[in-house]
Formats: sequence, structure tokens, C-alpha cells
Amino acid sequence: MDVVKGLIDKLYKENRIERDQLLYLLDNLDDQGRDYLFARAHETRVKHYGTKVFMRGLIEFTNYCRNNCLYCGIRASNSKAGRYRLTKEQILSACQEGYRLGYRTFVLQGGEDPYYSDDAIVEIVSEIKNRHPGCAVTLSIGEKPCESYKRYYDAGADRYLLRHETASRKLYESLHPGASFDSRIRCLWDLKKIGFQVGAGFMVGLPGQTNEDYVEDLCFLMELKPHMVGIGPFIPHKDTPLAKGNSGSVEMTVTLLAIIRLLLPQVLLPATTALGTIDPLGREKGLKAGANVVMPNLTPPGVRKKYTLYDGKICTGEESAQCRQCIEKRIIAAGFTPDMSRGDNVLWKRKDTV
Ligand code: 5AD
Ligand code: FES
Repeated sequence: MDVVKGLIDKLYKENRIERDQLLYLLDNLDDQGRDYLFARAHETRVKHYGTKVFMRGLIEFTNYCRNNCLYCGIRASNSKAGRYRLTKEQILSACQEGYRLGYRTFVLQGGEDPYYSDDAIVEIVSEIKNRHPGCAVTLSIGEKPCESYKRYYDAGADRYLLRHETASRKLYESLHPGASFDSRIRCLWDLKKIGFQVGAGFMVGLPGQTNEDYVEDLCFLMELKPHMVGIGPFIPHKDTPLAKGNSGSVEMTVTLLAIIRLLLPQVLLPATTALGTIDPLGREKGLKAGANVVMPNLTPPGVRKKYTLYDGKICTGEESAQCRQCIEKRIIAAGFTPDMSRGDNVLWKRKDTV
């Protein structure tokens, strides 16, 4: 315990750690060590963000996807997925409903769907910014050329989420047929250079994933220094090649959340829907381990069930207003304070391009 505690203290004080020390920590954490880690992570989040939990309105606007990630329910070859796309008007009215409910960040997420041209995305982003000045727009629409990212940024997009999924090249390649690990990583650096608040992230408990793989993920995060990090447990989807796998654990996910809070003290760190899916109190456990963001669903209820990345996804039956109320109650019951403001990373300022 002394060595483990020493490593956690080092992480807490210096916000960095050597690769072999990280592996030692992951291999040797017991319940006592974990509680100590969570306490240090909680202190760190309070120091930078108080007890605030930022709320983001999530709009899942298309479940068409040209990729074939082995784990994902909306992969191109899943012919059982009922597909949908929202029109520009539907996206704008979801934002309007969100604004009425108090949201000041809208996250537009979708599969990699070429139906939405760069012009279309630019138009949607500009219109949201026009109608809701002062609100933040986050895009999460996958890998694009740097030029496209620049156009989105110039149209007013503030943030971009692109999980790296796993920083282990071999594991990445085995899960993403036809995709390139280097291209994924290149996208993240491009986004950062352009000036976005950038979100990376990975799944926990993928088939065959080891502590060595998590060390890769954490070292990559130390290098990239993203403003946001989305991590959640892998959960099997019945119509994918990984249908027979086991889900990732709550314990491992919250442990990694806490370590990320210590490595990147000011990071915006969501307690994800996937974490709430494998455990009814999963998101609350995440908040107590250093997470400070939640992303309730603003997708129109009619199509919500179709955005099924994994089985058993929560929040698919509720109206947007119900989802907001539910999460707000949970945040308060866990001892935190819901915050509807834009909630930028305190280290970020928008810079103008061109
Ligand atoms: N289980 C958990 N998370 C998943 N994602 C995709 N499929 C699954 C799954 N089966 C995650 C990916 C993606 C994010 C939008 O959802 O990490 O980046
Ligand atoms: Fe969506 Fe509880 S947070 S229903």
C-alpha cells in the first residue's frame, strides 16, 4: 500500500507519472488504494471546478455510418439497424427545446455519414450559433480532412469529440477493419492545432484489453493533453461480431476516470451513459471519482431507440425534459451541483484562425 499511496501522491502533486509506475499502480490497486485515489481525484476536481457538474444536451442526428467498428451497433454492415437522419430543421428544433430547458452546450453526434456535406455541417453550426449566441456547439462526427475541421471551427464550432478508442495500435487495428490508427491520431492533433477544445477517449474492458493497453491510453492522454476525455465501459451489442463478449467493469472505468483527473487536473470528464448502463449508480460513482460532466439526451424521442451503439442503453425512453430532471436529481443526491452554463475548460480561449 505504501508504494501505491506514494504513486498516487506523486500523481496528485505533479500530475504526471512514468509509464512503468502507471502499470505498477494499475496492477496493484486494492480497495483501500482505490478509495485513496478517488479522494485525491475528488479534491482535484473541487479545486478547479468546485462541485459543479456541467450539463450538455446531446443530439444524435444520424445513425448512418460508413465504418465497421467491430464493437458498434450502428456499424455499416449491421443490416438490422433501423437507420434515420434528422433534417436541419429537426436538429434546430432539438436545440431550441434544449435551450428552453436551460442547456447552453449542444453536442451534435452522429455516425460517419457522408450525406451531411461540409457545407451542410457549416450551415447547421452557423444557424445554431445565430439563434443561440453564447451557446457552445460540440461536434462529434468522426474523421475528416483538416480543411473540413477548419471550416467547422470558422463556422463557430467550439469543441470536437473524437475518441481515440484505444491507443494500442494492434488492438485498434483489430477492431477497425479498413481504418488507420495513424489517421485517427492525426485528426486529434489537427483539431488541437486549429483551436478546438478537443475530446479524446477510449473504451474500457474491450475483449483482450490489458493494463498495458490502458497505460498506452493514459500515456497518449499525457502527450495530447486534450481538454475533454470521454471514457466508458465496452458493452456488447447483439448484432455485432463482439456480441458474445463481457462488458467492461464499473470499477476499472472509475479507477481510470480518477487517474485521468489527476493527470489532467482541469479536464472536462463526463460520467458517460455507458457507465450508467452497466450500473444504475454508475454515473454517480463516476462523479465521485472526479468526473464533472453529464450528457443527457436531447434527441427527438421518436428516433432515440435507433441510436443503439450497445445493448441496454439507458435514457432512450424518456422525453428530453424527463432526462434533464432525472440527471439533475441524481447529481444533487450524489452531493454535486448541476451547472447549465457553457462550461468551457478553464485553460481554453477561442483563437481566431485564417
Ligand atoms: N460499448 C460502449 N461504447 C461504445 N461506443 C461505440 N460502441 C460501443 C459499445 N459497444 C462508443 C465509442 C464511440 C462512442 C460514441 O461510443 O467509444 O466513440
Ligand atoms: Fe436520462 Fe435519467 S438521465 S433518464
